Amino acid sequence: MAMWSAPGKIILFGEHAVVFGEPALALAIDLRVSSGLQVSDRYTVNGHTMRRKYHAYISAALDEAWEGPPLKMNTDSNIPSGSGLGSSAAVTVSSVAAMLAERNRFDHGDVATKSFNVERRVQGRASPIDTSTSTHGHGVLVSPEKGDRHIWTISSGPQDWHAHHCEVRGLEFVVGYTGIHASTGPLVDSVRSLVESDGEAKRMIRRIGEISMEGVEAVRNADKVRIGSLMDENHRLLCALGVGHPVLDEFVEACKGRCYGSKLTGAGGGGSMIALTDDADGVCRAVSSAGGTPIVVKVGCDGVRLDRDRRVHGRPRKR
Ligand code: MEV
Repeated sequence: MAMWSAPGKIILFGEHAVVFGEPALALAIDLRVSSGLQVSDRYTVNGHTMRRKYHAYISAALDEAWEGPPLKMNTDSNIPSGSGLGSSAAVTVSSVAAMLAERNRFDHGDVATKSFNVERRVQGRASPIDTSTSTHGHGVLVSPEKGDRHIWTISSGPQDWHAHHCEVRGLEFVVGYTGIHASTGPLVDSVRSLVESDGEAKRMIRRIGEISMEGVEAVRNADKVRIGSLMDENHRLLCALGVGHPVLDEFVEACKGRCYGSKLTGAGGGGSMIALTDDADGVCRAVSSAGGTPIVVKVGCDGVRLDRDRRVHGRPRKR
């Protein structure tokens, strides 16, 4: 069975604000999901009968990208689910890619668009940052303006999100995984309610958008000190918008002095934080002593691709 694999991601700047059309920057990481399919006489996922309730993303991917007989789907993942590291985007992107390839219609822009549609169907309000990053890999800037190194535009109603390639080099991150699962949809809704009723929250969303653009410049210049201070500011703003969690704050606090900066990543409310560091061992120890699971991640990895191997790349490198 040919397996298509797609990476998870960390959002370096701009989560939540991107849903309102502000810029955001995400980086593909070396944790992946792989998916393969075979025509069959009934729909199954890893040997179990496919059910919309348990296989929401794959079922929605079939609606978006498949025309044909029932399928036997196989998936394999080394991204903890509900960790804020993009496991649902990677399941979606790898499944959509496998389905389009089976129909001889594989195209990166199409995978990104269809995968975004899947996330929106399942989650409700969403931006294309996770699915575009999982499709393209490397770093992806999503912004309301079209600029250099544009890769595709994804539209939803009046909203246009322009995705751009962003090169990332020489940055080392440690993820601190809380083990606390939080659903993205309700967190996105809670930020929307706040923004609709509170002018200060609106200003915070705009400031996060500015941070993303300043962050892109800092990433281009590999200016770790600047990236770190923007991460700290972005974290404070996300907490003020109500998507922090006391355990994330404990990890952020524990890493201070060992990293350039740290912040929650993804939807928040649990999930994971990230720290930019030259001392991965020290940060891993700090996260562990605070009760978290540290995972050292490489960034700027390949987007969706055809893998010959059945399995992905072992388990995450926990320390
Ligand atoms: C989740 O990884 C990122 C959010 O901004 C939601 C989205 O962009 O769809 C919280």
